[in-house]
Amino acid sequence: DRTVKIAPSILSADFANFGAEIRAIEAQGADWVHVDVMDGHFVPNLTFGPPAVKAFRPHVKTLMDVHLMIAPVDPYIEAYAEAGADMITAHVEAGPHPHRTLQAIRATGKKAGIALNPGTPVEAVEYLLDLADMVLVMTVNPGFGGQKFIHSQIDKIARLRGTIGDRPIHIQVDGGVDPVTAPLVAKAGADVLVAGSAVFKGGSVGQPQVYGQNIRAI
Ligand code: DX5
Ligand code: ZN
Repeated sequence: DRTVKIAPSILSADFANFGAEIRAIEAQGADWVHVDVMDGHFVPNLTFGPPAVKAFRPHVKTLMDVHLMIAPVDPYIEAYAEAGADMITAHVEAGPHPHRTLQAIRATGKKAGIALNPGTPVEAVEYLLDLADMVLVMTVNPGFGGQKFIHSQIDKIARLRGTIGDRPIHIQVDGGVDPVTAPLVAKAGADVLVAGSAVFKGGSVGQPQVYGQNIRAI
């Protein structure tokens, strides 16, 4: 099933109202809820530890997709799994042993994703695909919402789609996805689109129609 899914990133939500924000985007058709975990080391920003993710859990009725932008990552996998992540994605650049990292994620019983920064080629994940349920192609340098989409990554998505072939592995795209870039990445072969500012921009709690318009536009 290659229907395109939308995974709003709550990095762009109102941080004082996560429960209401999650309910609003799901009510308006979000397929997954994307949680961006940043450590101030692998990326220059800090966000959610396992207790925060645990607090989101009861509000998420769809699938909680946790994107770990942290290094080292292996020591924290179990904690994020226990916090209630359904999908855990680690970066291939996060350490010398991404194969071991994917094994560790699978060992928790959760779905496993592997992410590539814009400068990292498709070949970096070629021998990891047997352990991956998803490959995440970053279309901005990770760390912040609201950055400009990097167009060179469209070619990478298409190459990755060729490498994956008919294996049941999602291609997720994250960064600068909006109503203009969404069709480009979907056409190249992506099937899970993360969107932060495009979904939440102009929206506020109590105005779920704003999310709805944005999600449908993507
Ligand atoms: C970037 C994060 C993204 C980000 C996307 O480091 O991984 O999920 O929130 O935000 P937008 O859609 O605003 O580029
Ligand atoms: Zn992300």
